[in-house]
Amino acid sequence: MTEILTYDVLVIGSGCAGLSLASRLADQAQILVLSKVSLSSGSTYHAQGGIAAALDADDSIESHIQDTLTVGAGLCDLDAVMVTVESAKRNIEWLKDQGVKFTEQQADDGTKSLHLNREGGHSHRRIVHAADTTGKTVSQSLIDNVKAHPNITLLENHNAIDLIVNNKSRQRIQGAYLLNTVNNQVKSITAKIVVLATGGASKVYLYSTNPDISTGDGIALAWRAGCQISNMEFMQFHPTCLFHPEERSFLISEAVRGEGGKLILPDGTRFMQKYHPQQELAPRDIVARAIDNEIKKHGIDCVFLDISQQSPKFIQQHFPNIYQRCLALGMDITRQAIPVVPAAHYTCGGVVTNLQAQTNISGLYAIGEVACTGLHGANRMASNSLLECLVFAEIAANNIAQQLPSIPTPDFAPKWDNSLVSESDEEVVVAHNWDELRQFMWDYVGIVRTDKRLSRAMHRLEILKQEIAEYYANFHVTSDLLELRNLVIVAELIIRCAQSRKESRGLHYTKDYPEIDHSKTPENTILNPIRKA
Ligand code: FAD
Ligand code: SIN
Repeated sequence: MTEILTYDVLVIGSGCAGLSLASRLADQAQILVLSKVSLSSGSTYHAQGGIAAALDADDSIESHIQDTLTVGAGLCDLDAVMVTVESAKRNIEWLKDQGVKFTEQQADDGTKSLHLNREGGHSHRRIVHAADTTGKTVSQSLIDNVKAHPNITLLENHNAIDLIVNNKSRQRIQGAYLLNTVNNQVKSITAKIVVLATGGASKVYLYSTNPDISTGDGIALAWRAGCQISNMEFMQFHPTCLFHPEERSFLISEAVRGEGGKLILPDGTRFMQKYHPQQELAPRDIVARAIDNEIKKHGIDCVFLDISQQSPKFIQQHFPNIYQRCLALGMDITRQAIPVVPAAHYTCGGVVTNLQAQTNISGLYAIGEVACTGLHGANRMASNSLLECLVFAEIAANNIAQQLPSIPTPDFAPKWDNSLVSESDEEVVVAHNWDELRQFMWDYVGIVRTDKRLSRAMHRLEILKQEIAEYYANFHVTSDLLELRNLVIVAELIIRCAQSRKESRGLHYTKDYPEIDHSKTPENTILNPIRKA
């Protein structure tokens, strides 16, 4: 028997986006918040640099807007940028009210203010932070608060399998199927509103800064349900992921370069001056491509990031987490340079939403990294992501609060049918396909693309897609299989978007069209779902 539970609002994801929304809406609705693993399993917990907000006396909202547009390489939606940047200060205050303690500085006269970091693309010091563990600090406060609210139910270790949509008249969301990953039982949730807050898809690549949950589930769920997806070619590679066999996905924050960290080759030579006037603080796409180029040109495994010109006290105070983590691996970053490589970091594209965070399916919202609001365009500026999570969680919460009273409770109880499937006897197929997919995405659809590489990737993908579809149809679902099924869709969406962009822009760089196409107005890449009859 399928267990069926009913809520006003189902929030899929417990990162900054999902938890902020739940906190803001909890007085008006019964809310279920899901997490695939633990509540702190998302990228949010790992965020280091901080949250962008124009708070300095010399800074301005106009300047933050302009920097975001410049980094976005002509594809940002101006309204999305304006609403986000203009809401930054209010959202930082809201986080402080939630108990988040940001790093402060003290002026000579004793007055205290928030300390602001500097990161790539920003023309001012603008990043509010809690040392180099901003995400952990934000996560912990939000988790404490949602746990204390009687209207919020938290469900860990539950993987959303698919959305349930009523296609009878106008497409309307009805809920979702969930897999309890502890006992492998499926349950159905019916809800008036569903919010996708599932984070990004960077795990589609072999090397990534992201935690394991970042398998693009929300994008795949939305695509299968009939949502528009946009701009998936713009996958962001962070320039400086630690290169160490024991720490494949530990980020070395851009704030290290903001405080004077220099990129060097193994012989100590600097190289960023050859690529951009802003050198180490150029936009991320440029720094990541420069490093990739130097690694390939010199046949080396990594480049190095040197912050040792700062005093040991400064480094330990500003980057305690990075310092300790490297020290545990035998590297004292106050004296030696850090080995780094680029790695997949952020999904700029995603589920298309309007400025109320609504998708094209009634009652289905998308917020945070899963969404494509138009804020980031062809490249996200550092520390604009947590900001986007907060701003669109607030907008969505307000919109949902207005809509809820007029939405009837879903009128059917969908059951999960597993009568035709059996236990898998070949789990190894799933593991192999995971590895193969992530390897060819890294090799053929990574930082530098060509038409030939993209079609090679698409060819391999077709074979995997078929195998996984057969596997899904015949065997009981597991978490690994669900994630693989989603990753294959995400990979296809990335390749299709990349194939359709016949220019290089922002994060999409192809040797076959190495320049921006100035001959026409820049356009987003929109993929429309094929409607089932
Ligand atoms: P996440 O925090 O990723 O949370 C996703 C949630 O969805 C998780 O709870 C997960 O379990 C759940 N989930 C996913 N799929 C399912 C499913 N099928 N069923 C149920 N639950 C599911 N951005 C900044 O602005 N500033 C920074 O300093 C910064 N530093 C970063 C450092 C690192 C190492 C990384 C990886 C990212 C960083 N980013 C930073 C990016 C930023 O952290 C993320 O974009 C942001 O946290 C995403 O938040 P989110 O709420 O959308 O998703
Ligand atoms: C970092 O600290 O370098 C990450 C910042 C971001 O991804 O916005």
